[in-house]
Amino acid sequence: MDVVEAIRKRRAVRSYTDRPIPDETLDHLLRLALRAPTGSGAQAWSILVVRDAGRRAKIADLVIAGGARYFAQMRPWKEEVPEGERLAWGTASAEKVLSSYRAAPAWVFGLVVPRDNYPASMREGGHLDDVISVAFAMENLFLAARAEGIGSVPTTAFQRFEKDRLREILGLPAEVDPVILTPLGYPEAFPEGVAPAMQKTFRAWKTLVHDETWGNTRA
Ligand SMILES: Cc1cc2nc3c(=O)[nH]c(=O)nc-3n(C[C@H](O)[C@H](O)[C@H](O)COP(=O)(O)O)c2cc1C
Repeated sequence: MDVVEAIRKRRAVRSYTDRPIPDETLDHLLRLALRAPTGSGAQAWSILVVRDAGRRAKIADLVIAGGARYFAQMRPWKEEVPEGERLAWGTASAEKVLSSYRAAPAWVFGLVVPRDNYPASMREGGHLDDVISVAFAMENLFLAARAEGIGSVPTTAFQRFEKDRLREILGLPAEVDPVILTPLGYPEAFPEGVAPAMQKTFRAWKTLVHDETWGNTRA
């Protein structure tokens, strides 16, 4: 699959089989991920790969529980719905949508690893560069994975609720930040087109391209 097709066909995959990913395929994806550009050439990043079944189970449970809390908070609730019911609904939704995360044969974490290469005056911008660089690496991974028929889903929100426990599971030192993760695995099928829930609000590309100055869109 060429890069254009991989870009077009990459989708957030939330349904995984337990089919193993061959070691050489995984290595291929990781090496392509780390070919991404990094701010100041700092390589202020690492990728952490989890394949151990016990550790995968802990991560899947943590992410699914985080998904439940995310769903409970993001749903446009009516004021009169009690808090307790929201979490129950979120939990049921997360189990329905995300339970196959427990089957995914691998998890990949994009880590910011500060290299202390910025002077104080440049540190804030440098940190932003480091986060952006990790995102580039992960997009490389997502596209390369798609080309191999392997699914992924950029995930930044579900793990926020229990970041300390996640750090513990992964043995991360305090300065290393797991800014993004993805399950990695072969899906039953890749989703096609814009997800039904997104169709109402989806912005067409011509509305998002401005020529020369702000406001002059193609739409
Ligand atoms: C920065 C970022 C964070 C995301 N965080 C999550 C997340 O925490 N959980 C999740 O299920 N999907 C997450 N997504 C996936 C988006 O929901 C998904 O990419 C979007 O709905 C568009 O769908 P598509 O990727 O199939 O085109 C995230 C995507 C991005 C770019």
